[in-house]
Amino acid sequence: MSNSNPIGLFDSGIGGTSIWKEVHALLPNENTIYLADSINAPYGKKTKDEIVSLCFKNVDFLLDNNCKLVVVACNTATTNAIKEMRAKYSVPIIGIEPAIKPAANLSETKTIGILATKGTLNSELFNQQLQNYSNVTFLEQVGYGLVELIEAGKIATEEMRNLLKLYLRPMIDAGIDYLVLGCSHYPYLITEIKKIVPNTVQIIDSGQAVARQTKAVLAQHNLLNTSKEKGKAVFYSNSDAQVLKNILGFESGVFQNDF
Ligand code: DGL
Repeated sequence: MSNSNPIGLFDSGIGGTSIWKEVHALLPNENTIYLADSINAPYGKKTKDEIVSLCFKNVDFLLDNNCKLVVVACNTATTNAIKEMRAKYSVPIIGIEPAIKPAANLSETKTIGILATKGTLNSELFNQQLQNYSNVTFLEQVGYGLVELIEAGKIATEEMRNLLKLYLRPMIDAGIDYLVLGCSHYPYLITEIKKIVPNTVQIIDSGQAVARQTKAVLAQHNLLNTSKEKGKAVFYSNSDAQVLKNILGFESGVFQNDF
């Protein structure tokens, strides 16, 4: 395995680009390949077995393209299939989980809101994590419809704002001081969320933590790219690549591919 081989990332769609941005910001010399499995979004509504087999398909494609490490840029895929992926593949696999730990440690009201997909909130891994914080009240909310609207490019819309108000107001009324975004699509909603929650509520996601973990694991395996050149980034969508281009804010290196 060569250090210049790419880091592979995948998500059920375009949301995991929020993770790619953090990885790229911290490791700008790394080559990357990102897969948006938009044709199968949302994963959050699928069964565990369906999610596992979609993850295998994505990782197979990334490994066929010589990736040296895989970042699962999707909470739903991580919480439902990380064990199965790690058992099957020998490359390092980094997962993403809702940032419960920092929120629980920093919260003063000890009342925390978690917005995530049904697949994440129902997963065994997520529920095991919650058990570690018996002194905290977690208000869990499934973000029904949010991923679909983001995938349709409808972020700053009335429809989105109405759903967010519906999901967030009960949390605000209950006195949350932290809101955990437990889905890699949701960082794209921060501007809209800030219009609804008071500024005493801190919004946190896991993007930077995943980037730091990616760097640490690459270093541990002696796989950091030592090149001084800026890395090459390639993005594939198996649906409308324009939606992916729009969320990234650039077009170069973005392609349609039926992986
Ligand atoms: N972006 C995803 C996550 O982090 C999945 C959304 C979905 O496909 O349901 O959970």
